[in-house]
Amino acid sequence: MDKIKVMSVFGTRPEAIKMAPLVKELESREEVESIVCVTAQHREMLDQVLEAFQIVPDYDLDIMEPSQTLMRITVKALTGLGDVLEKAKPDLVLVHGDTSTTFVAALASFYAKVKVGHVEAGLRTFDKYSPFPEEMNRTLTTDIADLHFAPTKANVANLHREGVEKNVYITGNTVIDALKTTVRDSYTFQCQRLNEIDYQKERVVLLTAHRRENYGEPFQNIMDAVRMVAEKEPDVRFVYPVHLSPYVQQMARDNLGNIPNVDLVEPLGVMDMHNLMERATLVMTDSGGIQEEAPSLGKPVLVLRRETERPEAVEAGTVRMAGVEAKEIAEKALKLLNDPEEYGKMARAVNPYGDGEACRRIADAILYAFGKANQPPEDFTPGTEE
Ligand code: UD1
Ligand code: UDP
Repeated sequence: MDKIKVMSVFGTRPEAIKMAPLVKELESREEVESIVCVTAQHREMLDQVLEAFQIVPDYDLDIMEPSQTLMRITVKALTGLGDVLEKAKPDLVLVHGDTSTTFVAALASFYAKVKVGHVEAGLRTFDKYSPFPEEMNRTLTTDIADLHFAPTKANVANLHREGVEKNVYITGNTVIDALKTTVRDSYTFQCQRLNEIDYQKERVVLLTAHRRENYGEPFQNIMDAVRMVAEKEPDVRFVYPVHLSPYVQQMARDNLGNIPNVDLVEPLGVMDMHNLMERATLVMTDSGGIQEEAPSLGKPVLVLRRETERPEAVEAGTVRMAGVEAKEIAEKALKLLNDPEEYGKMARAVNPYGDGEACRRIADAILYAFGKANQPPEDFTPGTEE
């Protein structure tokens, strides 16, 4: 029997975390020959994930440069992927989400007339510049894609709004599949500093910030807000794993480097990150993926952005938009840290994004689309997990 040759392409940390369980699932299917190509748009932060999930890429374009521009990422990835597609000749390329790697891999596949499956399809803000460049990356990827793996019903509604009706599957988000394998009750952190914290006694706020559209004044405001809260609440410990972007590194060091209850740590391995999240009191973040993970662990999230393409957990009450003004962010954080009733309202485990079965559904959908299964997978519906 001819196998379906599926090439998964990713390049950044979040894509790797969310594609890793799918790569494993595809490897387990006898109808599929699974290969992996990384652009390495991220290097160290990608390698951390590859190592954690023990994935050895078949192709590695190694494109990362210090302070890389969107133009450089695009050109280098497009050229490299062209060569790989010619050599590997896959039947299907899988891309994930909304990074430059995502869009470029879709474009390169289109030029090579190879079918594209888009994992995490249909997220939208409908604001072309926010998040930037992700909103345009994912919209253009939708235009190219042949198969659309949408995490939620709301994501499917967004696709329908754009006239995309065919080959759309509601799968849940693969990040919840990943999360089910990483969080443990008893866990020793690789990052030594995290083993020194007494999580029974000290309340931990987990902070991350990296988004390009926040560079400049919004980023400064976020730093100011954290300083204000940390100084007002000396008993609360902030842990900020700082993204390796030179801009982010400098902002974190300059603004938060000398505050005793703020720990700036290296980017964490995904196991450390998920286990720290599980032990945290509150999460403050501009990350996309963390907005999906924390609600599933019952952790309140303040989103350090003006909008979100992930409204489901906001509607469920576990995530709140905090904006990018220092005073508003600080007030919202102080309220949650000092008002148990307000905190209690948010600290509930909800799973609008997945049930841990997304990868199985995506693999089943691929078999169906290629005529190797009679039935499409059932839709993911929130609330059906055990
Ligand atoms: C990228 C994605 C963004 C995603 C984010 C996840 C684009 C345009 N942006 O943004 O959608 O939310 O990844 O983190 O695709 N760096 C290192 N080592 C690393 C990783 C990054 O040194 O392992 C540094 C490099 O100097 C690089 C800079 O960080 O130039 C920024 O990386 P880049 O991929 O351009 O953008 P991100 O902000 O990470
Ligand atoms: N993450 C990690 N280590 C860190 C920070 C984040 O493993 O130090 C994980 C996080 O748990 C989530 C993903 O990386 O799974 C989110 O990546 P990021 O915030 O960089 O990108 P986004 O989701 O915003 O695109």
